[in-house]
Amino acid sequence: MEHRQTESPPSYDYVMNHNTPPPSYPSLETLSATQVQPYYIPQPVHQTPAPCAQTIPAQTVRASSQRNKRYCFGGSSVTAVIVVLVVIAVWIGVRYGPSLWALTEKETPPDTCPPSSVDCDGKKDCSQGSDECRCVRFGAANELQVMTSKTKSFLPVCAQGWNKDIADQTCQQLGFRQSYEVGFLNTSSFTFQSLNSQFTSTIQASVNTSTSCPGQQTVSLQCSKCGKPPGSRIIGGNAAADGQWPWQASLHFQGSHTCGGSLVAPDFIITAAHCFPKGTTGSQLPSNWKVYIGLVSQLQLPNPYNVKQIILHQNYDPASNNNDIALLKLSKPASNIQPVCLPAFDQKFPAGKKCWTTGFGVIRQGDDSSSTLLMEVEVNLIDSSVCNSYSVYGGRITEKMQCAGDLKGGKDSCQGDSGGPLVCKVDDKWYLAGITSWGNGCGKPNNPGVYTDVGQLLMWIYGKMQLSLICHSLHHKRV
Ligand code: ARG
Repeated sequence: MEHRQTESPPSYDYVMNHNTPPPSYPSLETLSATQVQPYYIPQPVHQTPAPCAQTIPAQTVRASSQRNKRYCFGGSSVTAVIVVLVVIAVWIGVRYGPSLWALTEKETPPDTCPPSSVDCDGKKDCSQGSDECRCVRFGAANELQVMTSKTKSFLPVCAQGWNKDIADQTCQQLGFRQSYEVGFLNTSSFTFQSLNSQFTSTIQASVNTSTSCPGQQTVSLQCSKCGKPPGSRIIGGNAAADGQWPWQASLHFQGSHTCGGSLVAPDFIITAAHCFPKGTTGSQLPSNWKVYIGLVSQLQLPNPYNVKQIILHQNYDPASNNNDIALLKLSKPASNIQPVCLPAFDQKFPAGKKCWTTGFGVIRQGDDSSSTLLMEVEVNLIDSSVCNSYSVYGGRITEKMQCAGDLKGGKDSCQGDSGGPLVCKVDDKWYLAGITSWGNGCGKPNNPGVYTDVGQLLMWIYGKMQLSLICHSLHHKRV
């Protein structure tokens, strides 16, 4: 394939045809057989049976054994029935489409903030509260750091007066259900946030700056038990073992696997924004999606979760794939499924580190159906300046992206893996370092996989998880 890079960014068409916004699957159908190129560890793997992969599964799921059945249509009578159904569907679309659209796909109104708005003072000034949604973060060793309108910088919270109830309320403020573990750290800081005698509404409203803190003891907080999978690994294998990547999600659009995702909190899946392309009708409609979590085979689907809200990054750019991140709010919390850890604010994953990416994407570039089994592959983190060099991606790697794979080729994610995790293990815990985003082909030398850099988007993630709670009532669309 002769798709050499140039200094200029690729055209929209170029990116789209090489990165395949999944719901429309254009390249999966158009890639010719001559482009087939193995890239995962070469081993025969079962494929989703897809005798007629282009047909949309005829109905929603009932029993698990039926879930992956695809339906072939043939003969003129069936064709006639289809034509009639299409005509009816078009009529319904024309007749009711606009009002249905307005009801369900209306975008969340932009947040409006008065000029007098004060960030992190504990009082919601903006219509959706974005002035109070970026006031908490976690530093190294899960150190809780809070910003207030007075400090304007993030400071550790003094342990004095801290209790489980405050821990729970702080985690709930961040979009989690409750706290998981509280610890105390010895900090060398000179300034702290000290707890007031009462917790009122938010943590930033419940602290005051202070220069003293008994024993310099500060709060370390974890809002979930994360990143420690219960399952064991198959050494050298490339099909993942059950329980190894419990946070892995498979996002089904209108009944078919389309993208991956990662559970980061009981109510939230992180995935890629390009999984919801504007041009694909209904791709931004929550009811068209089902989320399966913790599965290792598309033939054994667990109970699905419905999507309550799709939150796309407001600055996602489909032409460059910058800010390729989205959050899905589930309609009910995932129970008994372990999420992956989000990195701490200053946590860096060094170039050369061996991390893993997983997914149900195609096993060979050009395949027309995704993998039945969850696949895993070890990839190296690649330095951004190397990845941005002329012989690799020539300037297309932004600071929101992280390259991973092997410049020699062969180890990569591919179409259908998008939105899924790139995870790195640190101190026995797996952290979500990246989100599968794009690449030129799959597994080709000097064309590694490109992942959204989660560490660069933590404020967006926590901000949106909070916003969807604070503004809960706003998200119930009215007609
Ligand atoms: N955009 C692709 C998807 O929608 C993922 C591409 C990843 N490509 C790669 N070479 N790593 O599934």
